Amino acid sequence: MKKTYPPIYYSDYLQLEKLLGSQSLKSDEYEAHAHDEMLFIIVHQAYELWFKQILFELDSVMEMFATENIEETNIGKCIARLRRITAIQRLLIEQISVLETMTPLDFLDFRDFLVPASGFQSIQFRIIENKLGLRPDSRITYNNKSYYSVVSNEHQEILKGSEKEKSFLELIDDWLSRTPFLNLEGYSFWEKYKACVEEQLMLDKGIIENNPSLSEEKKKKQLDEFEKTIEHFRCLIKEEKYNELVKSGQRKLSHKAFLAALFINLYRDEPILHLPFRFLNYCVDIDENFTTWRYKHALMVHRMIGAKVGTGGSSGHHYLLQTAEKHKVFRDLFDLSTYLVPSSARPELSESLKKELGFYFTFK
Ligand code: HEM
Repeated sequence: MKKTYPPIYYSDYLQLEKLLGSQSLKSDEYEAHAHDEMLFIIVHQAYELWFKQILFELDSVMEMFATENIEETNIGKCIARLRRITAIQRLLIEQISVLETMTPLDFLDFRDFLVPASGFQSIQFRIIENKLGLRPDSRITYNNKSYYSVVSNEHQEILKGSEKEKSFLELIDDWLSRTPFLNLEGYSFWEKYKACVEEQLMLDKGIIENNPSLSEEKKKKQLDEFEKTIEHFRCLIKEEKYNELVKSGQRKLSHKAFLAALFINLYRDEPILHLPFRFLNYCVDIDENFTTWRYKHALMVHRMIGAKVGTGGSSGHHYLLQTAEKHKVFRDLFDLSTYLVPSSARPELSESLKKELGFYFTFK
């Protein structure tokens, strides 16, 4: 028998009375009505709602990744949810242009009423960063103080708690480190790969050495950079060397996880690697979208307040530009491309490995 449910009214279901009654203009309170303050409030509130949705999706993905054996169907679900996050992020980037219909002069009509509040205090934004894997030692400091020095005690506790939880980056590291194909006995894939990459890198070196348009000074600079790339690549193959990079903060992923991610990127056409490849690609998209948002926000801030300090007291757009560059979480996944070779130059996989990469096992 079909169950019946009591009828529900649109505005009750969405609690619109509460939602639409939550825009109180400070400029009205101070009897200095500023027309654009309504837009300013609504845009911020819309951001917070979308942050909530991002956290909802991220939490569900992290929950699925917290288990030792991640089912293949769940990887598909995670990909769909990460894709949703990227679609929301595009909206968040676009939303900046709505706020930019407010001119700097219009903003000045109510800006002073807001001190010292700032988006810098957005707890949901900080929780997203922490959940993704941004750790306190990687943060740009704010007036030489911790980022939670400007939020309430209650919020500080929430943020400290979220720093201690296992991050998405750490969960991905665990998952990648468990990939079964990295340790196939008797198959020295990485030695073969090393030879292929070194050959490619030497071709690159030749291009620099024989470039007639480079001055000797520029050539030397590029060759020095090139030597660093080679050195980093050698570290990749030698675990102890690689671990030194992790210790010095130059790498976040563990050695095993980094190699697994590289392998997935190289052989993404093998059926079993399709989904892991798409998954990693969405992680890079999420980082790229947040970076784009940070740049656009920094530009908007420059345009709105010029070289003034922010309402929260930071060095305004200078601080924000730095976070755009430094607060990437999946930097290692971006860096993988340094070590890719064209498909035609990849080492042939051994028969046993090829067999393993068919649909023989579940990617754990
Ligand atoms: C007129 C518009 C805006 C101005 C002038 C502005 C200005 C600033 C400034 C100067 C900062 C640095 C901290 C400070 O000193 O206050 C900041 C940080 C921040 N703002 Fe905005 N903002 C605006 C709109 C927004 C909007 C719509 C959001 C959406 C939630 C937002 C979110 C943030 C976040 C999350 C931070 C911290 C960024 C980080 O630390 O990486 N802002 N904002």
